[in-house]
Amino acid sequence: MKALATFLAAAGLFNAAYSCGAHLLARALQTRGPTDCGGGTTPPSTTFAIKNVRVFDGNGFSIPQAVLVSGTKIALVGGAAPPGIVTVDGTGKYLLPGLIDSHVHPQSCGALSNLTAYGVTTAVNMACLDYDACRSLKGQVGVADYITAGLFAVGPNSLHAQFFQVPPELTLQPNADLGLNVDYVFGNGSDFYKIVAEGNGPTQQQQNTIVQLVRGRGKATYTHASYMGAYAQAIASKCDGIQHVPANGTLSSSQVSLIRSQGQFVTPTMEVFRVAFANPALGPLLGLTPADTYENVVANVASLRRAGVPLAVGTDAVGSLPGILNFPFGRTLHCEIQNLVAAGLGNAEVLRAATSDAAKLYKLSDRGSISIGKRADLLLLNSNPLTNIANTFDINSVWVGGRQVTGILSSKGTSCDPTTY
Ligand SMILES: *[C@@H]1O[C@H](CO)[C@@H](O)[C@H](O)[C@H]1NC(C)=O
Ligand SMILES: *[C@@H]1O[C@H](CO)[C@@H](O)[C@H](O)[C@H]1NC(C)=O
Ligand SMILES: *[C@@H]1O[C@H](CO)[C@@H](O)[C@H](O)[C@H]1NC(C)=O
Repeated sequence: MKALATFLAAAGLFNAAYSCGAHLLARALQTRGPTDCGGGTTPPSTTFAIKNVRVFDGNGFSIPQAVLVSGTKIALVGGAAPPGIVTVDGTGKYLLPGLIDSHVHPQSCGALSNLTAYGVTTAVNMACLDYDACRSLKGQVGVADYITAGLFAVGPNSLHAQFFQVPPELTLQPNADLGLNVDYVFGNGSDFYKIVAEGNGPTQQQQNTIVQLVRGRGKATYTHASYMGAYAQAIASKCDGIQHVPANGTLSSSQVSLIRSQGQFVTPTMEVFRVAFANPALGPLLGLTPADTYENVVANVASLRRAGVPLAVGTDAVGSLPGILNFPFGRTLHCEIQNLVAAGLGNAEVLRAATSDAAKLYKLSDRGSISIGKRADLLLLNSNPLTNIANTFDINSVWVGGRQVTGILSSKGTSCDPTTY
């Protein structure tokens, strides 16, 4: 499968609608001044406790106990709520860490707030073409926390360069000074480096060198790879994480073992494939060939999992492109959770993949579990997701950085049929 970008570009929608063709958005942001996602109008939380709630510990739920939040952090877990403080009654409810979408393309406050309205408290933004626009979404309160790539490494005349309309001087030329390139990405405040492996993409040698330079700075490189050849490059480069899985073939057991032994992880993004395969009109525009099948996607996820390759939960959601495609933020992360369970992950396993494992893989040490000192990113469910994974949709309340989210959009029984998006 070619990137979703292919389709969007063919539809002529990049500048208006999609993520990092965000030049228009960037201009709008420049004329509006600094972005304010509105979370600052919510009163900052004081100290409160969720009492009598079953707390997810990565494997199961505890006996009913209290979780104390002080400001932006979790202050205590266990026992009864201290006397005299504001409490939320968690009786009969289930508390999870806020969810992490490990591959998503939010480009506005509305996108971040839709994520939060579904209990997604961290968004790992996988491409950025406009540093001012991306910077403006970082550190916003009351909405999903935004962790971002920089300008991705795309080769001149590659699909991504064409479709994202990357100015030639910002593509990776054959003689590019890779050290300078890496300096720019991190000098501009990016959290990690993103490579796009594809036809006319960065050469194997360039990918290898970037991975080593970035690692030398204590940072990580994640590589987009959605077909067999690109995957082989991502494996050979020893990048930290691979985004997507191949759709036009199945990885060999030696490839899977290598991914595991090199300590790489994978964010499969089954959801973007599912959306594409469910909509026949998208096929030609997405560059789907008869060799691309959802069965390959599932088989690859299953074999990566069997080999013990760490997996993260990501969607590739881009939001709404009116009249063309709706690939909504937030809702689709719950669907990706269900996709991964259908591919063989256990319920507790997938919940870890969407919380503590993702936090570890993306080096977000301040979040991902309900323990003392972590960010108070919390998701309170009315029903137990270990008995039915679709219960992650049954949201009672969400807190992000200790602030309670208003306008929850999620509800029990929400459909994951892409034709209902
Ligand atoms: C947020 O969700 C609302 C309601 O589903 C939708 O109308 C809107 O387009 C979404 N915003 C973004 C930026 O995706
Ligand atoms: C940010 O990136 C641009 C190129 O995209 C570069 O010209 C500029 O020097 C970078 N800024 C820093 C502080 O590295
Ligand atoms: C997968 O797709 C790539 C690029 O379109 C192609 O070169 C390769 O031959 C395909 N592999 C299979 C197994 O179909």
